Amino acid sequence: MEFLFAPMEGITSRTFRELHAEHFPGVDRYCLPFLSPTREHILTDRQRRELDPGRLGCDRLVPQILTADAEDFLWAAGEMASLGYPEADLNLGCPSGTVVGKGKGAGMLRDLDALRRFLDAVYAAAPIPVSVKTRLGLEREEEFGPILRLLADYPVSRLTVHPRTRKEMYTGTVHLSAFALAAERWKGRLVYNGNLFSAASVRDLREAFPGLDGLMLGRGMLADPALVTRIRGGERSREALVSFHEELCGAYLATMHPNQAVLPKMKEIWMYLALLFEDDGLWRRLRRAKTWTEFHPLALSALKTLPLRPEADFTAVDQAPVSPTLR
Ligand SMILES: Cc1cc2nc3c(=O)[nH]c(=O)nc-3n(C[C@H](O)[C@H](O)[C@H](O)COP(=O)(O)O)c2cc1C
Repeated sequence: MEFLFAPMEGITSRTFRELHAEHFPGVDRYCLPFLSPTREHILTDRQRRELDPGRLGCDRLVPQILTADAEDFLWAAGEMASLGYPEADLNLGCPSGTVVGKGKGAGMLRDLDALRRFLDAVYAAAPIPVSVKTRLGLEREEEFGPILRLLADYPVSRLTVHPRTRKEMYTGTVHLSAFALAAERWKGRLVYNGNLFSAASVRDLREAFPGLDGLMLGRGMLADPALVTRIRGGERSREALVSFHEELCGAYLATMHPNQAVLPKMKEIWMYLALLFEDDGLWRRLRRAKTWTEFHPLALSALKTLPLRPEADFTAVDQAPVSPTLR
């Protein structure tokens, strides 16, 4: 069973992934945030840099494409194939208003006939195997049955299911009963994703679904970058947290504006990382910082001195428990 680091647009950049892998062993694959191809079929310099397999190498990375246009998908998959990637992932889950409004991401789950036409074209001509990351549907978990039946008609190389609807975004209950449908019926490789925030939640999920091929973790890994390391028998060291953080800040500061770019980026990470520390006011203080020079000493001192919780405490951000450990 593999552990995959979830794709997180704006957070899990190439720099982030490479530094994470260096300091926290245990993750099998890192998923790249979505690439949204343009009609002109041109990659920007930034997209090229992010797509470059770099130190991790193609086999440990899963690039992802967000589009509702089969031709654009095939072009992007071709670019990924030429870089050496063994597969490309289709995003059927992004819940953002602008994405769904354009009929992309989770918006593709609205019209299954259109989705079938898209998949027919993609699977007929894709230069590399295509995996899928999906939600249960747009509004109701009952939409998932027909979606699953439709996907089963294609050679999906890996199906990752985030068992929430688009309407639920990333909050509230994960619908394990709907995921059970996939566990029961899906014949190919199946990955679970959602609310795996502690070693106990991972253990419970594995017990509930022993046949899974993988678990994908996102926010749990931002809150405790050593979560998978610990699950695999390693330890979380404060030194690794400090080095990871400082090297990440250093790399970002080398190319980005401290206040306009690095500060919001690091705040987004700390929104989760703060949950690891036994100080309920930490996130409030960090969020209030208006400049990098105000923010960084607070963050570094927290990393070096504040007591660490055994598990990140997600109770404050996600209040709708499905089980004691899969909150
Ligand atoms: C800030 C942010 C950015 C995300 N970007 C992507 C993305 O580019 N592609 C994707 O498939 N999912 C994306 N997701 C969804 C995550 O991959 C994952 O499905 C979600 O966080 C639920 O998993 P978790 O409960 O382990 O965090 C994003 C989520 C967040 C919070």
